[in-house]
Amino acid sequence: MKATYLGLELDSPVVVSSSPYTATLANIEQCAAAGAGAVVLKSIFEEQILHHAASLEQYSDSPYGDASDYLQRYLGEDYKAGFLRLVSEARRATAVPVIASINCVAAGDEWISYAAAMAEAGASAVELNIFIQPVEVSRSAQELERLYVEIAQRVCRAVKIPVSVKLSMRFTNIVSVVSALEGVGVKGAVLFNRFFEPDVDVEKISFVEGSPYSEASELRNVLRTTAICSGALPRMNFAVSTGVHDGEAAVKALLCGASAVQVCTAIHRDGFAAITRMNEWIDAWAERHGFASLDEFRGRLSFGKNDSELLQRVQYMKYFPGRE
Ligand SMILES: Cc1cc2nc3c(=O)[nH]c(=O)nc-3n(C[C@H](O)[C@H](O)[C@H](O)COP(=O)(O)O)c2cc1C
Repeated sequence: MKATYLGLELDSPVVVSSSPYTATLANIEQCAAAGAGAVVLKSIFEEQILHHAASLEQYSDSPYGDASDYLQRYLGEDYKAGFLRLVSEARRATAVPVIASINCVAAGDEWISYAAAMAEAGASAVELNIFIQPVEVSRSAQELERLYVEIAQRVCRAVKIPVSVKLSMRFTNIVSVVSALEGVGVKGAVLFNRFFEPDVDVEKISFVEGSPYSEASELRNVLRTTAICSGALPRMNFAVSTGVHDGEAAVKALLCGASAVQVCTAIHRDGFAAITRMNEWIDAWAERHGFASLDEFRGRLSFGKNDSELLQRVQYMKYFPGRE
């Protein structure tokens, strides 16, 4: 089923999210062969590079350190070149739109010009994967949100291709954040990124890695936010990420107003064929309901069009201990 996302015409609303499944040309070719509408490349990580640079800085005598040299070299050569090569190779080898993904934690110039280089290499859009983990008491929510908007604004000014922002679930008012992003030229929001989660090993009394993969039930919280955001901001494009494990989940997201869904765990679980099965399920469902195109059903459950009180209710008022 055809879809439009970020102004791009896609053959399917099922997009492969930024992950190991889009990190190599061979995997991207498999995504395309299985019927993906687009691929979002594995993110290039500013955070990772800054950490490398910061750890080198510790060992440096010079006030400027070797770290900035290293940073430049690292940015300028292998790491950066590898991503640009992947964009152009994927563009040549497949017909699916390639969306570059940049992990930004500061509005630095390197990253702004890097987004432009991605566009030149053939990326159809840029997805900014922004998350700043607050650990300082003194940084207010407004300060951090302003930084998100500033990063996005700088990238939007630097590139002609559409820019989307992949957001975290942790905002007090996500509608206002997405609206501010729209105000500086962002065309789409991905709801949501699912971050690396540490777990605790109680025997070793230490942090350990939690599973990076989602559960299907995680979709429900995303559906509510998508319905609210898409109703409040009808010109913005939304892609649902987290918990889209099958065709039914994809249809739920589209009904809530998403223009596309992004999938990762489904491929981990079922291989690239998961994409084909999702497309088949969406088509069969649409046919069963007499819908000839996505526009005929997309957003039917978005806020405003559907005023179910279940959308705004968050507390279990009617449930009492000891009663059904
Ligand atoms: C192993 C792994 C690597 C990932 N790497 C990235 C990444 O580089 N950039 C990004 O924006 N999201 C990354 N993600 C998050 C996924 O793109 C996706 O948002 C998340 O897994 C939720 O979708 P799902 O429920 O379909 O798995 C990664 C996820 C996994 C499991």
